[in-house]
Amino acid sequence: MNPTVPSLDSLIALNPAQQPAYEDQALVAKVLDQLRSLPPLVFAGECDALKHKLAEAAQGRAFVLQGGDCAETFDSVTAASIRGRLRVLLSMAIVLTYAAEVPVVKIGRIAGQFAKPRSSTTETRDGITLPAYRGDAVNGFEFTEEARRHDPARLLQVYNASAATLNLVRAFTKGGFADLRAMHSWNSDFIRTAKVSGRYEQLTSEINRALAFMIACGVDDESFRTVDFFASHEALLINYEHSLTRIDSRTSTPYNVGGHLLWIGDRTRQLNGAHVELLKSLRNPVGVKIGPSAKASDIADLVETLDPTAEPGRLTIISRMGATKVRDLLPPVIEAVEATGRRVCWVCDPMHGNTFSSANGYKTRAFTDVAEEVNGFFDVHAGLSTWPGGIHVELTGDDVTECVGGVADLHEEDLAHRYETVCDPRLNRTQSLELAFLVADRLSMMERRRVDFVGMDF
Ligand code: PEP
Ligand code: CO
Repeated sequence: MNPTVPSLDSLIALNPAQQPAYEDQALVAKVLDQLRSLPPLVFAGECDALKHKLAEAAQGRAFVLQGGDCAETFDSVTAASIRGRLRVLLSMAIVLTYAAEVPVVKIGRIAGQFAKPRSSTTETRDGITLPAYRGDAVNGFEFTEEARRHDPARLLQVYNASAATLNLVRAFTKGGFADLRAMHSWNSDFIRTAKVSGRYEQLTSEINRALAFMIACGVDDESFRTVDFFASHEALLINYEHSLTRIDSRTSTPYNVGGHLLWIGDRTRQLNGAHVELLKSLRNPVGVKIGPSAKASDIADLVETLDPTAEPGRLTIISRMGATKVRDLLPPVIEAVEATGRRVCWVCDPMHGNTFSSANGYKTRAFTDVAEEVNGFFDVHAGLSTWPGGIHVELTGDDVTECVGGVADLHEEDLAHRYETVCDPRLNRTQSLELAFLVADRLSMMERRRVDFVGMDF
């Protein structure tokens, strides 16, 4: 039974939330026609491979690391920025793989994460009100009437920026940069004194010794040289996502070829809404974000709609409840989803439920809250004997100062130093690695518990 792709008109008739308001509809039609004729950015077989890996994570045999910018920008499509983001994600993945001994499914919020849902349609500064910035896919960040106008031609730029990004990501991950033997050099410019860098250096030395040993034994596996890395973004703009939905010639089924995994945001997950309607027709693995307003029975209905055949790896639920709420709000949702008989992949986003404004006016997050939500997520899953399948984080490879806390002990006064995000505050490189060590410690405790259980069988 192959679902058919709903027409764009039928989706628009559902009045999707969080869409741009374009003035020139003829231009919109022209842009969408152009997008429909452009080649795929990803291939159906790659989406299937990711689905297979996510099925492993759903079954407790792998762990998902999904991360990247809150909002990618056209300006950040540079070799240095892309390399920086990949470097921090790959370093985190190595920490998780080595310290926790689980295969890590590596997914970037990258090559397509250009559109943002906003809680307010406008922004007011010094008495002037303009449309809110909705990501480079829709309008410009600059606070002028011209920049904030919604421009459909930007969708072509999204396609091109995504293609250029993905091209470099493929080159880096398959062409030598990701070689495990070179990992020592990725973070050689770390601040020497940081607690995290010491632990990281020790880990890389151990891995290098192990690799040297294996190579001396004659093992020279291709898997040391390359990594599988997947692209994901929030499927927010219905017209863009529809234009990149194609029928795969091999299977005659619909895939979105703009990213391997697409997720539906917390603000657009209405059961009969356009986003759910479009994503349920795709064969890609899909995700859904759920926040504190999620009702357990609604999420169970959503799960049945998005994954009608209980297909392994099909569905990832990304919870972002907030550090103080996760222990109370997540268990009933997990229980309701489990009661549908499905094994979904449970991923924790410890970022979006923990945002606050600093006294000096920055939108920020505290590392302690991020850590506390991750710990709550692990505790909840331990209590229910379900598998904590992964984390979803907003991060950057640069040494920015956007989130407070962490080993570098950033304070609110430090935020002004390098606050560069155009949307939500991201973990910097040290904070990201610190989080990876925290997660690795939690995972390795679970591993030991599993081994203990095996031992008890005898
Ligand atoms: C996001 O992931 O950037 C986002 C907007 O998240 P959420 O849908 O969880 O609010
Ligand atoms: Co965000």
